[in-house]
Amino acid sequence: MRETSILDVQRIRADFPILQRKIGDNPLIYFDNAATTQKPRQVLRTMQEFYCTYNANVHRSPHILGQEATELYEQAHENVARFIGADDGREIVFVRSSTEAINLVAYSLLHGESERLRLEPGDEIVLTIMEHHSNLVPWQVLRDKEGVVLRFVGINDDGGLDLEQLKRQVTGKMKLLCCAHVSNVLGVINPISEIERITHKAGALFLVDGAQSVPHMPIDVKELGCDFLAFSGHKMLAPMGIGVLYGRKELLEEMTPFLYGGDMIADVKLEGATWNKLPWKFEAGTANVCGGIALGGAVELKSGRRLEGAVDYLQRIGMEEVRAHERELIEYALDGLRAIPGVRIYGPLNPDERTGVIAFNVIKGGELADPHIVAGFLNDEGIAVRSGGHCAYPLADRLGVEGTVRVSFYIYNTKDEVDRFLEVLDDIVRRKLA
Ligand SMILES: Cc1ncc(COP(=O)(O)O)c(C=O)c1O
Repeated sequence: MRETSILDVQRIRADFPILQRKIGDNPLIYFDNAATTQKPRQVLRTMQEFYCTYNANVHRSPHILGQEATELYEQAHENVARFIGADDGREIVFVRSSTEAINLVAYSLLHGESERLRLEPGDEIVLTIMEHHSNLVPWQVLRDKEGVVLRFVGINDDGGLDLEQLKRQVTGKMKLLCCAHVSNVLGVINPISEIERITHKAGALFLVDGAQSVPHMPIDVKELGCDFLAFSGHKMLAPMGIGVLYGRKELLEEMTPFLYGGDMIADVKLEGATWNKLPWKFEAGTANVCGGIALGGAVELKSGRRLEGAVDYLQRIGMEEVRAHERELIEYALDGLRAIPGVRIYGPLNPDERTGVIAFNVIKGGELADPHIVAGFLNDEGIAVRSGGHCAYPLADRLGVEGTVRVSFYIYNTKDEVDRFLEVLDDIVRRKLA
């Protein structure tokens, strides 16, 4: 098997049972990692072990299972904090997903008890047109119901963010700037440090949507300088239903909770309630304890046994290596795609400027082929890709298309798989499309 020069992909692949699947007679080629990634045995084992050995509700039950589950869950917060360079687990709120993390911030800032943080009618939020709907629609609701003003930053023709326009969109009324670190369509890596400087110079808060960056490259929230970072476990080897909101401690302390009840409470009288300390103040009700441990991993203190989480698995490989492996695959795939007549690639062509997400269309006889049909032909050969607007419709409008075909890579993908994809696509373009 032809691999990249970076990772021992054969060994990695052996950890992913689903990759043994066949689709018809063809081995599965899974190129839909931007939607969700597959899960390694180690993470699946942790989930099974949690339910077979430790299952109990956290922060309430005094028995041994309750104590152990609590200890593991708290450690998982600490491990995730270390993974992204946060100060400690108090800055890590476990939520369901990136979507929930962003909604939490939107709700909390709107209903803020703190005057400094509260969004008022006329306050401005700057967004880019490449945002996933999860980082657009919550802010549109604030605009439509609450009179907050949204200002948008476009892209250049190469798919890069229009930084000059961004600077022009910043006014003294800007309270918040929200930006994807990496576009889930263009794969482009946005210049977060520069955006951070502009945002903070204007005295606004900076929210980074890290759904497509945290799984694919080393991330240090201190280096990014962001106030909030949202990401999803299921896009980085953990199960669905667990995500993270990182927030700077001082901000989270000052912010209003999003959901109410259960663990987020310190004390309740009939007259009112007070909130728990961080991060529990934002984790209302029964948490996804198994998901949190499967993401962050933990050590069972009495036995010393490690329950490996997705973060442990990625750290063992090394995030620099994850990035380098994907970079090699992107370069290889971009070269191959450019050699197929009629393929139009969106986003920058320099692999240093993008991650392992490539959106493209096929032009045949002067017409754009329906991306769903192209994806269907690929599926017939066992190649799983995504087609459509990828929950970023305003970006599709800007690109002048209804949708694209998107391939997206991860640690278990190989150059052999890219070769097979290119061969099948070439055949689709030459023979199958009318
Ligand atoms: C850039 C970006 N932001 C947010 C999301 C939403 O993630 P989730 O569905 O896990 O909430 C996605 C999902 O594809 C994404 O790609």
